[in-house]
Amino acid sequence: MEEQKKYWDKVSDTKKFTTPFRMDLFKSHVSKNCSVLDFGCGYGRILSELRSEGFDNLTGVDYSIDMIKRGKADLPEIKLIHSTSGKLPFKNDSFDAVTVVAVLTCIVDDEALEKTVDELKRVLKPNGIIYINDFLINSDLRNKKRYEKYQGHYPYGVFRLPEGALLRHFDKKRLIDLLKAFNTITFDELLYTTMNGNKSNGFYYMGQLV
Ligand SMILES: C[S@@+](CC[C@H](N)C(=O)[O-])C[C@H]1O[C@@H](n2cnc3c(N)ncnc32)[C@H](O)[C@@H]1O
Repeated sequence: MEEQKKYWDKVSDTKKFTTPFRMDLFKSHVSKNCSVLDFGCGYGRILSELRSEGFDNLTGVDYSIDMIKRGKADLPEIKLIHSTSGKLPFKNDSFDAVTVVAVLTCIVDDEALEKTVDELKRVLKPNGIIYINDFLINSDLRNKKRYEKYQGHYPYGVFRLPEGALLRHFDKKRLIDLLKAFNTITFDELLYTTMNGNKSNGFYYMGQLV
């Protein structure tokens, strides 16, 4: 985790995140006065979009101190919190909705992934909404080659970027199992452009905690 965190610190000034947020879908299930947590908020891109739409009870959390510093400089009026412990610094049932945009891709270990989703469930209120954007496994040669290098050590779909970080593209069945505590509202597949300008299969998901 330390190595991964250092990567996000290192690129905090230069990276521009790209996966589009489905504001129309989000707004059809979450009203503007709701409390929203953006988990893995980076420099606050999604929070900034939500604020522009009139959401005013916004909190972001990220384990990269430098992403949080950049966010605080750009968006001083939004609550951005640096947290590294794995345990989120919020009480049970704190938020009406949680957004998780291109973050699960950074969590390559299955046990850590389960713990992360458990934490998100803990801080969500009963019937709370979760919105996720992330990446799905691709079948082109470039991706197949890089997944194969890590097979046996990590779940299939994990690969290393040339610049260092380990990332993960997901198997759809794994995601469905991971999110079984939620009633699915939407699960749509599409093609994303990644932060490095490549194309990747992806999805957006909206669910409600049961
Ligand atoms: C690809 S960026 C996306 C940032 C933001 N969600 C967006 O779409 O603009 C991934 C972010 O997740 C953060 N991150 C990754 N794993 C995390 C974890 N386990 N806990 C908190 N933040 C994490 C990284 O520091 C980075 O800022």
